[in-house]
Amino acid sequence: MGSSSELTYRGHDDETPIPTTTTTTTTTTKLLDSYSPKPHKQWLPLSSVSRPMRYILREQRLVFILIGIVLATLFFTIIPSSNTPKRFNYDPIIPDPYFPSESTRMVHRVVYENKGGFGVGGKVPLGLKRKGLRIVVTGGAGFVGSHLVDRLMARGDSVIVVDNFFTGRKENVMHHFGNPRFELIRHDVVEPLLLEVDQIYHLACPASPVHYKFNPVKTIISFSSSVYKTNVVGTLNMLGLAKRVGARFLLTSTSEVYGDPLQHPQVETYWGNVNPIGVRSCYDEGKRTAETLTMDYHRGAGVEVRIARIFNTYGPRMCIDDGRVVSNFVAQALRKEPLTVYGDGKQTRSFQYVSDLVEGLMRLMEGEHVGPFNLGNPGEFTMLELAQVVQETIDPNAKIEFRPNTEDDPHKRKPDISKAKELLNWEPTVPLRKGLPLMVSDFRQRVFGDHSESGSASDNTKSTA
Ligand SMILES: NC(=O)c1ccc[n+]([C@@H]2O[C@H](COP(=O)([O-])OP(=O)(O)OC[C@H]3O[C@@H](n4cnc5c(N)ncnc54)[C@H](O)[C@@H]3O)[C@@H](O)[C@H]2O)c1
Repeated sequence: MGSSSELTYRGHDDETPIPTTTTTTTTTTKLLDSYSPKPHKQWLPLSSVSRPMRYILREQRLVFILIGIVLATLFFTIIPSSNTPKRFNYDPIIPDPYFPSESTRMVHRVVYENKGGFGVGGKVPLGLKRKGLRIVVTGGAGFVGSHLVDRLMARGDSVIVVDNFFTGRKENVMHHFGNPRFELIRHDVVEPLLLEVDQIYHLACPASPVHYKFNPVKTIISFSSSVYKTNVVGTLNMLGLAKRVGARFLLTSTSEVYGDPLQHPQVETYWGNVNPIGVRSCYDEGKRTAETLTMDYHRGAGVEVRIARIFNTYGPRMCIDDGRVVSNFVAQALRKEPLTVYGDGKQTRSFQYVSDLVEGLMRLMEGEHVGPFNLGNPGEFTMLELAQVVQETIDPNAKIEFRPNTEDDPHKRKPDISKAKELLNWEPTVPLRKGLPLMVSDFRQRVFGDHSESGSASDNTKSTA
């Protein structure tokens, strides 16, 4: 018995011997007796096939195996496809009735589903949550940027705000402090920066006339923060980052690229009428150059880009006294000062509530179209009509004071948003009379509750777009 076992495992010293039965031993001994140089190998002996089969049939295991296969098929095919991905939670941190409706939220969901690829939004295996994106928002501590950050955070993304706090405020984003998905970096975008991100929303740029027009370059902190340099060098740096890490890049351009338009309303194909040497040109031409650079990086370096041309936007967290007409009128009415109207007050503007803009920016980023896209509310108001709405909302007795008009103030501004309607399925939903009270309550709190913000509007704060 012992010697038979030894013979059986000869040549396989490295393997653990399996105890052999008497039958096996006898068979092996017979085989060894009829020795041949090339031993006959029986890879699948009949007994080894038939024995499990006999066992399966006898114990009726086949039925269980078949049931198992059917269940596994159901689990991996039918259930995941019928399991609609969870809707993203867009509930804002700041209570605001004007956040996306169910139908508008759908668009983001569809886009994320279509992107494919685990982690970004394709079919996520059962039991696993969608992995958020890593997104940098330059200028994220500013008015528009901070509202965008709220939405991205609510969606579950990881957000890095890059801001030099020139016009932005920590207070605008401090409700995210302590959230591990949120980071704030004090940085001037005219200096390069390396970050690992999936998307870049590039908003960094002083957007109000007080900051880009009435302060000469030397008074704007330092030369490195001049508006033109921010638009050109800052945009170059962010495009370079997008190229290096393969991120999608969105530029927030402006309706100012149309200058004092000769075409009304403005469509994206209109090339504009900008004075290249006027007091506004550092902003207008800066944004035009930023658009050029963006398209060059797209065509020349294959960077995925998006361009939004934003029209006048208002809402909570706007800089008080920043010279933009809505914030000017609201602050003046709250302080019982006369509303300053420049020129005859018949120049027109359109006013978009900030949640509408943020919705448009996110749809643009997630969509398949480069743009440029006009994002604005086509409802057109003269400055006098706007003053009237402010009177109705805040103080019916507020006086209106006329002042001489400013240089290069556009006469008309109204977006044609057909392209955004068709390709982004986007249009504004908040009318001025609904959005203004929300801004007023925020301003009221800041004007009367926060003394660092209070004080008279300076003469520099002119009512411009
Ligand atoms: N709000 C509007 O009506 C409007 C209209 C057209 C275009 N836009 C564009 O939208 C973007 C956001 O505008 P906003 O209204 O929120 O303006 P904002 O001034 O409130 O925000 C701009 C942010 O960028 C930051 N910033 C400025 N220069 C910077 C630099 N060099 N480095 C880093 N950060 C810098 C500021 O500190 C601020 O937080 C801007 O690009 C603006 O041109 C806005």
